[in-house]
Amino acid sequence: MPVTDRFVFMNHAALAPMSGPAAEVVAEEARRVAATGDLHWPYRQEGVEAAREAAARLLGSDEPSRVAFVHNTSTALSMVAEGLSWQAGDNVVGAACEYPSNVYPWMNLERHGVELRLAPEVEGRVPVDGIAERIDGRTRVVALSWVQYATGFRSDLAAIAELCRRHDVLFVVDAIQGLGALKLDAEAEGCDVVAAAGHKWMLGPEGIAVLWLGPRAVERIRPIHAGWRSMAHMFDWDRFEIDWNEAALGHEAGTLNAFGILALGASLDLLLEAGREAVEERVLALTGRLAEGLRSAGCTIYSPWGEGERSGIVSVIHPRHPADELTERLAEAGIRIAHRAGRLRIAPHFYNTEEEVDRVVSTLQVSP
Ligand SMILES: Cc1ncc(COP(=O)(O)O)c(C=O)c1O
Repeated sequence: MPVTDRFVFMNHAALAPMSGPAAEVVAEEARRVAATGDLHWPYRQEGVEAAREAAARLLGSDEPSRVAFVHNTSTALSMVAEGLSWQAGDNVVGAACEYPSNVYPWMNLERHGVELRLAPEVEGRVPVDGIAERIDGRTRVVALSWVQYATGFRSDLAAIAELCRRHDVLFVVDAIQGLGALKLDAEAEGCDVVAAAGHKWMLGPEGIAVLWLGPRAVERIRPIHAGWRSMAHMFDWDRFEIDWNEAALGHEAGTLNAFGILALGASLDLLLEAGREAVEERVLALTGRLAEGLRSAGCTIYSPWGEGERSGIVSVIHPRHPADELTERLAEAGIRIAHRAGRLRIAPHFYNTEEEVDRVVSTLQVSP
């Protein structure tokens, strides 16, 4: 992680640094395309498919065709919202504290007479009861972040998935604030859709995201884009016949963002090599140390801290200074964090060190 040469980087919930291998693969491919045009395309495609396999593995799946590469999380969620068929009076259940990417695609269905019901945040949590109370016979989708961007609260996916199954509702998960840091088995945990862009915990570049579709989602969501890559016979260019590519692949329409995908793939290889369990364990150990240190230093941890609720995001209240001022002060000391909702948001990844955590703590020490 070249970023470690210059910064204590704990802002992975915003825009993460690319890994060294990710940066190298982009530079190498750019040189190749500049020098040879299409000559290397077939090999680049092999790299793209290897990245798809890596993305599937990160999601606990051995079926790469369940993964489509798209631009970003907002696009992925919009493709899901627009690809379902709606009746006036249907509703979608979400949460009031969501990042806008997981609100507007559903709000935008108002023109079909679809209602968006948002469960409130309660002391930094999205209680399962708040979701359950809003589900009725006309609910078609529950759309929720796995990890909330401002508080770091991690929802119990299996519990909500169970609820969704019982009501025959599609469970759509925005996983951007967890995937790459925490272990997710998408299908086993009952998700129907998982959407996550690569530029946070997956240590990829901007403008590339994964859209994973489970079996129920593939049945219900029509691709909203159509192009040569959408079809099973994608290289049969004089045969005009609608025969969709299987699973998620039918959603890819045309030429892919190969540079973005290769870079993402290189970072995913790094994460998978470290191991999904080991990465999660390390992230939780670092955030645990951080929270403990900050509490002793006089700060309050706002992030819910119960069993299964923690993530890579620690939301912190400093008793003396506003969060924006402190973020600035830390930046001057070479420490990159962010502030959200008036609180410090500190988000270390598996490669950060205990020494770096201790440095952040000592910089935020509340003076007597
Ligand atoms: C929960 C959540 N979803 C989505 C995004 C970003 O969406 P996109 O990939 O469309 O830029 C963010 C970025 O902060 C986020 O925190």
